[in-house]
Amino acid sequence: MSVIRSAITGVGSYLPEEIVTNADLAKVVDTSDEWIVERTGIRQRHRARPDQPTSDLAVEAAKKALEDAGRTAADVDLIIVATTTPDMTFPAVASIVQRKLGTGVGIAFDVQAVCSGFVYALSVADGFVARGMSKCALVIGAEEMTRLMDWTDRTTCVLFGDGAGCVVVEPREGQGTAQDQGLLGFALRCDGSKTDLLYVDGGPASTGTVGHLRMAGNQVFRHAVVNIAEGITATCEVAGVTVPEVDWFVPHQANQRIIKGVGDRLGLDENKVISTVAEHANTSAASIPLALDAAIRDGRIKRGDLVLLEAMGGGLTWGACAIRL
Ligand code: UT7
Repeated sequence: MSVIRSAITGVGSYLPEEIVTNADLAKVVDTSDEWIVERTGIRQRHRARPDQPTSDLAVEAAKKALEDAGRTAADVDLIIVATTTPDMTFPAVASIVQRKLGTGVGIAFDVQAVCSGFVYALSVADGFVARGMSKCALVIGAEEMTRLMDWTDRTTCVLFGDGAGCVVVEPREGQGTAQDQGLLGFALRCDGSKTDLLYVDGGPASTGTVGHLRMAGNQVFRHAVVNIAEGITATCEVAGVTVPEVDWFVPHQANQRIIKGVGDRLGLDENKVISTVAEHANTSAASIPLALDAAIRDGRIKRGDLVLLEAMGGGLTWGACAIRL
């Protein structure tokens, strides 16, 4: 049976120039390179310039993804930006990206599911592309998490960084099997009873300020391993594939110990797990497309591979997506 699949035809990413090392942060708060590396795997993070808003990072990633897909801005009819750090409360970062890229009138909006935002946004794009409402979509994860840090709180400020990643999504005909190129299945979840474990203590309709990120880290950690493992298993079932068949796992990059914990729980081959947490730290919705792009650029992930993306973050939200590249 012939079906329309949403295929990823291009990938690109962008990291701001400034690198902040653990040693740099040890001058700001009572921490050490040793503690950060041992507890998280993070060695450095990138930080955007004060005059460089989230939309600028998104635009740079989008340009690279369009070039990779052999498309131009004129082809784009849908832009979805997953972000929790918009330039302004409104308009959406996607609207600003549309203007800066010069794509012309089309559909553009943001998705807010924090660190799970990219996986959520991909599922939304799938709805448009597979129903014939978009011929060329940009799905972007773009974040400036450093703007949300309380630089006196060592339990959070060492964990996050800035960056953006983008995929181009276009329709491709498939046979309705797991061999088709494209997005094969999703599992998305939110447990709103746990909003108090990870949140920003500000907003336009509460304090009227931007606020700072607050996290009960070790409680989030415990949920992360269990939830992500469940999300992966559920996604494989929906996609009609088995966990051992997956060629590459591209996890949200929050903590190397979480990535390892999920791997151990599911018996994953660690050589199949992409990790960029050491270089990028936690870039929230940007972390998955940044890691995907890094592994495609260095030749590990190739066309035709079965790739599983997974994430978890504030909300608590979590989810996964199986893709035949
Ligand atoms: O992306 C969204 C999802 N987020 C996550 O997945 C993050 C999940 N959580 C984590 O990754 C980990 O829980 C953290 C990395 C945040 C913390 O690691 P932990 O092993 O859970 O440490 P902890 O919070 O239990 O703290 C252990 C100790 C505490 O000291 P005491 O109370 O035992 O004396 C902290 O005060 O480590 C201390 N500590 C630090 N020490 C040096 C916390 N942060 C730091 C720091 N430097 N930066």
